[in-house]
Amino acid sequence: AGIVVAIDGPSGSGKSSAARGAARRLGLRYLDTGAMYRAITWWMMRAGTPVDDADEVAARSGEPDLRVGTDPDLPTITVDGMDVSGPIRSREVTNAVSAVSAVPAIRQRLVAMQRELIGDGGIVVEGRDIGTTVAPDATVKVYLTAHEQERARRRAAEGLGGAKAEVTLTQQELAVRDRLDSTRTTSPLNQAADAIVLDTTELNLNQVIERICALADE
Ligand code: C5P
Repeated sequence: AGIVVAIDGPSGSGKSSAARGAARRLGLRYLDTGAMYRAITWWMMRAGTPVDDADEVAARSGEPDLRVGTDPDLPTITVDGMDVSGPIRSREVTNAVSAVSAVPAIRQRLVAMQRELIGDGGIVVEGRDIGTTVAPDATVKVYLTAHEQERARRRAAEGLGGAKAEVTLTQQELAVRDRLDSTRTTSPLNQAADAIVLDTTELNLNQVIERICALADE
């Protein structure tokens, strides 16, 4: 079986670019689990489902036909055949995703799908609960952090045409999302006991990728 590199951390910690970059450099597949929660959220909003009605979200959790590619050079995500890689980065989806991802039926479905995608390994997986829940036996677990101001700055830079081109959230919106993601019981913003904590505040992207690759090569 191939290795599994689990990368967790809060939004703006530089997770996505680092995980994808490390996958390319290591010749591994890449899975962005946040994109999956976003895609389901996009579908719920489009279907007119009130995203803060957990029962309604749970009732429809099995409906969207979600497909995810794991090529780090071309990550693809479709719902019901539609390419949603752009729309899932909108502010509307970003502000609704915490509520949808707190619904247990949604998490059950997506965690099962993620484990299937991980399969025999050979993959870098990025999210919030990878080292603790999705892949507790991962070969390497990295927990990325960065000071709050730096995370807000990175989010803003992404909004100005960065890799994900996410619409800029204010520092307040970012703080609200982090709080929702970290306080709910279904998915604490959890740090595995055996994760290696990497503070990226003072590191550039290449330095973060290099550290992850060094850990994976050990
Ligand atoms: O990583 P990203 O910011 O795209 O994640 C979007 C949202 O999806 C997070 O704010 C969180 O609510 C949810 N998420 C999750 N579990 C994961 C990945 C993301 O609950 N493994």
